[in-house]
Amino acid sequence: MYKRTLITSALPYANGPVHIGHLAGVYVPADIFARYLRLKNEDVIFIGGSDEHGVPITIRAEKEGVTPQDVVDKYHHIIKESFRRFGISFDIYSRTTAPEHHRTASEFFRTLYDKGVFVEKTAEQYYDEQNGRFLADRYIVGTCPKCGFDQAYGDQCEKCGTSLSPTELINPRSKLSGATPVMKPTKHWYLPLEKYENWLKQWILEEHKEWKTNVYGQCKSWLDNGLQPRAVTRDLDWGIPVPVDGADGKVLYVWFDAPIGYISATKELTPDWEKYWKDPDCRMVHFIGKDNIVFHCIIFPVMLKAEGTYILPDNVPANEFLNLEGDKISTSHNWAIWLHEYLEEFPGKEDVLKYVLTANAPETKDNDFTWKDFQARNNNELVAILGNFVNRALVLTHKYYDGITPEPQQLTDIDRNTLQEIAVLKGEVERSIDSYRFREALKSAMDMARLGNKYLADEEPWKVIKTDPARVQTVLYVSLQIVGNLTVIIEPFLPFSMEKLRRMINLEKQEWTTIGSILLPAGHRLNQPELLFEKIEDDVIERQISKLKATKADNTAAPDVAPAKAPVSFDDFDRLDIRVGTIVAAEAVPKTDKLLKLTVDTGLDRRTVVSGIAKWHSPDAIVGKQVALLVNLEPRKLRGIESQGMLLMAEDASGALRFVIPDTAVTNGATVK
Ligand code: 2FM
Ligand code: ZN
Repeated sequence: MYKRTLITSALPYANGPVHIGHLAGVYVPADIFARYLRLKNEDVIFIGGSDEHGVPITIRAEKEGVTPQDVVDKYHHIIKESFRRFGISFDIYSRTTAPEHHRTASEFFRTLYDKGVFVEKTAEQYYDEQNGRFLADRYIVGTCPKCGFDQAYGDQCEKCGTSLSPTELINPRSKLSGATPVMKPTKHWYLPLEKYENWLKQWILEEHKEWKTNVYGQCKSWLDNGLQPRAVTRDLDWGIPVPVDGADGKVLYVWFDAPIGYISATKELTPDWEKYWKDPDCRMVHFIGKDNIVFHCIIFPVMLKAEGTYILPDNVPANEFLNLEGDKISTSHNWAIWLHEYLEEFPGKEDVLKYVLTANAPETKDNDFTWKDFQARNNNELVAILGNFVNRALVLTHKYYDGITPEPQQLTDIDRNTLQEIAVLKGEVERSIDSYRFREALKSAMDMARLGNKYLADEEPWKVIKTDPARVQTVLYVSLQIVGNLTVIIEPFLPFSMEKLRRMINLEKQEWTTIGSILLPAGHRLNQPELLFEKIEDDVIERQISKLKATKADNTAAPDVAPAKAPVSFDDFDRLDIRVGTIVAAEAVPKTDKLLKLTVDTGLDRRTVVSGIAKWHSPDAIVGKQVALLVNLEPRKLRGIESQGMLLMAEDASGALRFVIPDTAVTNGATVK
């Protein structure tokens, strides 16, 4: 048995706003769990924060032409505010640029370093010669060796989800310059995961068989394939400096520092932080999405184990992904329902979205969010089941008894069974939440409203009032107990709506243990009823669907365009000598499938140019073509051939290279300006 619970929720990258996928995968289940434990009066803390280091941040900064600090400041506040308005009840929502975090992560690294845990190794890594930078993680893109997706990152293919290392990419390109990178040696510190393999096998595969199948299965497959040492430092200028000598220009790998963010946030929250992190009586639960499993089940536990004074996660109930209208949610394609937009467009309906995301949570497999399903669940479940029952019970009490709970008469078996069913449902909800099955838990909680509806439909107080008014007193008394109990059992899922309902029935917030008892005794005065939920009309849904259709049309019409470069002076531009020339000979360069050796008549001379266009142009087809050529580029050798200039080619998102040619033939040597 545990004495307290530490709930962590994945720290979202502060490189963009959060969307429904984040909410469904991580924050809604974590929030339900935290609220449930608080209702049970357990000692629980719920930790969140923004992940503000790493390449996702610097890439966004480069795209927006601002500093990484600007990026994280902007999105941290947007994300934090969205969570606040959705009622995600963190005890603290911190950020990894906080000084406490820098201190904590730095000390953590230093402790492992001093214990001799790391392996220091100099290895060849991709380097962009044009930018003079090593290409960590997402700075390198190329073709995925598994699925052929041509925009896979150096650490992961977002199309097929495979975790990659940069050298596995086919045709690697620098995200910074587009150039083909070269290999260059650099020193880094590695966490020797392989040394912990046996321990991990015992701890996860033997001692945590109760973990969700998707989580257990992913861990098993990592462990079966054998673990490799993992670099925990990077050559980057954004991040936490590596706190050892000889590490200038190096920072901690974002996946090393981010999970330590859970520790630093706890330190910020309470001076008593160690009772959550270092006492085996505390159980730690990580709420994450499936792409974070390896980091939370393998890498972070190895870090904690190596450090030696921390507890390990008791469970990692990772969710699968939520898709949107049949397609993968994508930030870069704007294929998402952004929380800050939803909040503007559906004010007061925060609980509705949380309800739908829980009822349809991607707990065991990827699931699809559709606006039609959102509407149906609101109208057919929240309005027709929960709202309708509450409304009938309250309106009838006002109509017959001036809003005061009537004195019950002799209870029948039906009445007693109905009241007893409340305790049964309580047990069901507990069992489900305790095993991280939140959609099942919500269904059982809603069964209490179904119970109420059935009871009213069977007992028909609106008819019986004419023949047996005393019986109606009992029926409404029983119905009101169901209403009172609903405010407790549904509270973890729909806190705003239950607060509203408590106001209507004039009831203080109750503890979980009260479920099953009489909460609105005879003589209790209710307040005026209001509608708990409103029907959502077709036109509202149609507008949302049209919005998504427009996004889809935009995505198809305008594929990705490379970001704008920084301005240059006219003088800089004028130094480029660009001429029209004619290709007079062309042949493939042996042993490459990319390069052609061209002879170009530039009007000034005939010269050799080596160009990486073989994939799109065959030598025979291009002889005689006029092309634009940069003639004063310093010559450079490619495959032993000196290239004396560069063809100007148009490249779109597909990567295809097309000639830039004059609209009518011009004299060779004509200048391009
Ligand atoms: O995948 C992500 O969005 C990461 N920023 C999650 C980090 S979780 C934790 F370790 F901080
Ligand atoms: Zn792939």
